Amino acid sequence: MSTSNQNSPNKLTTSTGAPVGDNQNSLTAGPRGPVLIQDVHLLEKLAHFNRERVPERVVHAKGAGAHGYFEVTQDVSRYTKAAFLSEVGKRTPMFIRFSTVAGELGSADTVRDPRGFAVKFYTEEGNYDLVGNNTPVFFIRDAIKFPDFIHTQKRHPQTHLKNPNAVWDFWSLSPESLHQVTILMSDRGIPATYRHMHGFGSHTFKWVNAEGKGVWVKYHFKTEQGIKNLDVNVAAEIAGTNPDYHTEDLFNAIDKGDFPAWKLYVQIMPLEDADTYRFDPFDVTKVWSQKDYPLIEVGRMVLNRNPENYFAEVEQATFSPGNFVSGIEASPDKMLQGRLFAYSDAHRYRVGANHNTLPINRPVAEVRNNQRDGQMRADGNGGSSTYYEPNSFGGPTESPKDRISPFEVSGYANSTAYDHDDHYTQAGDLYRLLSEDERTRLVANVVGAMKPVEHDEIKLRQIAHFYKADPEYGQRVAEGLGLQVPKA
Ligand code: HEM
Repeated sequence: MSTSNQNSPNKLTTSTGAPVGDNQNSLTAGPRGPVLIQDVHLLEKLAHFNRERVPERVVHAKGAGAHGYFEVTQDVSRYTKAAFLSEVGKRTPMFIRFSTVAGELGSADTVRDPRGFAVKFYTEEGNYDLVGNNTPVFFIRDAIKFPDFIHTQKRHPQTHLKNPNAVWDFWSLSPESLHQVTILMSDRGIPATYRHMHGFGSHTFKWVNAEGKGVWVKYHFKTEQGIKNLDVNVAAEIAGTNPDYHTEDLFNAIDKGDFPAWKLYVQIMPLEDADTYRFDPFDVTKVWSQKDYPLIEVGRMVLNRNPENYFAEVEQATFSPGNFVSGIEASPDKMLQGRLFAYSDAHRYRVGANHNTLPINRPVAEVRNNQRDGQMRADGNGGSSTYYEPNSFGGPTESPKDRISPFEVSGYANSTAYDHDDHYTQAGDLYRLLSEDERTRLVANVVGAMKPVEHDEIKLRQIAHFYKADPEYGQRVAEGLGLQVPKA
C-alpha cells in the first residue's frame, strides 16, 4: 500500500483525508436551499464540534501545565529503591499541572483557593504521580467527607451561586479544617503566580529501599522564585480584567526562557516512630515538626517547555496518587486511601478506559500488560502478543522484587475516627508565627469571607474554633464581625 499523501500539505481535508472542495458554503438544493444531507463534510464538521468537550475535572477544573525535568541532587538511595532517585545527576522527564480547586474551567485564576500541584514523573520503571497542593495540610482527613466538603465549595443547587453559609457551616462543624482554613485565609491563599508558591505531597507516603526497609516520607517542593502573594484588591481586579493571569504568566515565563524551578526536599520518619509520635503522622490536617524531622534535599525540578496543545496535554493529562513506582508506596492515611480509588475512576469517566495510552499519559517505560480493547484503543492493542497470564508462550511475567513491602495490621474492622482531636495547636502556632501585619490581613480576610454568612450560630461556632487556636485570633474575628466570643 502506498503511504504517499496525494494532498499537498496546504490542502484542507476531511478527517478521512479527502480534500475539502468548499469550506465556506453548504451544499444546497438550488441557490436558496434547503441544505442537503448529502453534505457529509458539513455534517461531520457540526457533529465533531458538538463533541469537542470532555467533562471538566469535578475539582481542579481550571489549570495550566508545563513540561520539564527532575534532577537528583542528593543521594537518597538508602531510603528508596525508586530507580529515578537512584543516583545524583539522574534526570527524569516530568509534566506538571497547576490548578485552582473549586472554580470551573473558565473561572478566574486569582481567587482565594488552594492550588493544585500535580507532578507526573516519566520514570524508566513507570509513571510516578505526586498529586499535591501548595499547602502541606488539607481541610478534612477522611475521604468519606470529601464529596460533602466539595459540595460546600461549589454552587448552591437552586441559586447556582457560591454559598458562604455552606462553606462556614461545614468548616465550623469539621474543626479539623481549622489549620488549612488559616493557611487559606492568610496571604498564601492567593499566590502571585503559579511560579511563586511551594508544593507539597501533603500526605505521608512510604519509601522502601533495596533491602526492603521502609520509612515514612513527606514531600516539600520549595520554589526558587521565592514566595509571592497577591494583595486581595489587586487579585480581585485581575480576576475581572485577566481571569487567565496565572495561566498566561506560566506560559510567558517559559516561552521567554525564564524557566521556573523548585527544590525537592523530604522529611523522613522511621516507621516505628508512627506508633509513638505525639499525633497520628497519617493525619493530613497536621504537619510534622521540622525540628523532629528536618528537610532532606532530594533534587531539583525545572519547567522548560510549554505544551504544544492545551487539550492534548493539559486537559487530557490524568494524574493519580495511586500511580506509584517500585520503592514508593501508600501509607494508611485515610484520605490518601480514598484518593487511590477516586482518580483513576475519574479518568475512566472523564477521558476513557484507555487514558493511559494517550501520549501525555503514556509511560516511557514499556507497557506489557493484558489489558485489551476498549474505546479509542489507538496504540496497536498489544498486536498478536500473549493476552493472558500465566501462559506457556513467553508472555510477560511478574517481578517478585517489586511486590509491595508487607506490613502488619491489627484491631477490629470499624468506622474509627482518628483518635487525635487537637485541631487547635498547629493552627494557633501558625497564627502566632505571623507578623502583626500578616495577622491583620488574615483576620480581615476571614471577616470578609464570613460576613455574608446569614446565621450567627454558624459564625459563633467558627469564632470559638479560632479562639481555641489563639484567644487573640478568635477575639479579633469576633470584633470584626461585631460579635462576642461565645462562652465555652
Ligand atoms: C483532582 C478527588 C483530595 C489534589 C481531583 C479529581 C478528583 C479528586 C476526582 C479530578 C481528577 C481528574 O478528573 O483528573 C479527590 C478526593 C480526595 C481528594 C476523593 C479526598 C479523599 C485531594 C488532596 C489533594 C488533592 C488531599 C492534595 C494534597 C488534587 C489535584 C488535582 C485533583 C492537584 C488536579 C490534578 C490534575 O491537575 O489533573 N481530586 N481529591 N486532592 N486533586 Fe483531589
